Amino acid sequence: MTVMITGGAGYIGSHCCVTFLEAGFDLVVVDTFENSSRESLRRVAEICGRSVAIETVDVRDQTGLERILRQYDCTSVVHFAGLKVVGESIDLPLDYYDVNVVGTYRLVSAMRACGVHTLIFSSSANVYGEPVSLPLDETHRTAPMSPYGRTKLIVETMLQDVAASDPAWRIAALRYFNPVGAHESGLIGESPLIVPTNLMPIICQTASGQRPSLSVFGTDYDTPDGTGIRDYIHVVDLVEGHLAAHRHLAAAPDGPNCLTFNLGTGEGYSVLEMIRAFERASNRTIAYESAERRPGDVAVSFADTGLAERTLRWTAARGLDAMCRDTWNWVCKNPTGYRA
Ligand SMILES: NC(=O)c1ccc[n+]([C@@H]2O[C@H](COP(=O)([O-])OP(=O)(O)OC[C@H]3O[C@@H](n4cnc5c(N)ncnc54)[C@H](O)[C@@H]3O)[C@@H](O)[C@H]2O)c1
Repeated sequence: MTVMITGGAGYIGSHCCVTFLEAGFDLVVVDTFENSSRESLRRVAEICGRSVAIETVDVRDQTGLERILRQYDCTSVVHFAGLKVVGESIDLPLDYYDVNVVGTYRLVSAMRACGVHTLIFSSSANVYGEPVSLPLDETHRTAPMSPYGRTKLIVETMLQDVAASDPAWRIAALRYFNPVGAHESGLIGESPLIVPTNLMPIICQTASGQRPSLSVFGTDYDTPDGTGIRDYIHVVDLVEGHLAAHRHLAAAPDGPNCLTFNLGTGEGYSVLEMIRAFERASNRTIAYESAERRPGDVAVSFADTGLAERTLRWTAARGLDAMCRDTWNWVCKNPTGYRA
């Protein structure tokens, strides 16, 4: 059973490779390495004692994808490849529609041409937009507030239509909340080539002295300490959710063939709580200053995880201290990420 992992060299994809290799699957990673490096996959092999096949192909290249699906006799696809920065998507919307929407369209077209019908798609809690009620469950209305979120929602809608057209399809769209942390070995972690805008890499850069301080965007939200609250999930828990979804799709061939699940912990932490937790884990002081709210940010977002727990028999096991400890371990062992 060979699984194609698009974007498998990236932050979440590389952790997914470890979990799926450990579960006994053979893997072929499809990546352009535009926001990742081959070093992550070398380290995946070091952790697992087994390597993945690597194909440098763009997800918009349907012919290339068909060649790989056939050559490796793939039976399923986990699709991480994409662009993911909310702010950048406001400036470069066409790039986001091209890679995220056209890329998934070409991937699904290649899968159909090759008779591969099992797909797990990386969606995002961004599809919800401003919460009307909390915790956010999968039936909450969708109203994304950025081009990035809209690309995810368009793809989800396309996948529902595709699944409805042919019962052979087995599709799961997983809505991630806020992935953080790293593999406990400290060999793989988040090492973006783009300038990070998400909280945890910026906390790390501040704790390790690469930035003098960090900006807390919005200190006047209607929350206990005025800062935004998010549902942070350990990346290893997140990818274990993918394995559970993959097993579920295989085990329930007669059930609904397009499923949507939140992957979060159900717990919300504020920006200041995250800073304090990281200070404890790193034994460093993290300087910060207040800044204006960022457009597109909501005050509070956390998941109702009941559907994933009941259906996939999956629950996030790692708490805030493990998230911060494993992140700091990765940063200490790799102060410049995968760059030498
Ligand atoms: N990290 C998060 O906070 C988060 C939250 C919600 C959803 N997601 C989604 O999860 C997925 C993975 O996120 P990540 O954090 O691992 O990002 P990442 O940037 O680390 O990984 C994405 C990978 O896709 C590759 N890629 C980009 N464009 C490509 C293309 N056209 N063809 C082939 N490969 C390409 C990149 O080189 C990289 O290896 C993305 O789809 C993202 O939108 C991430």
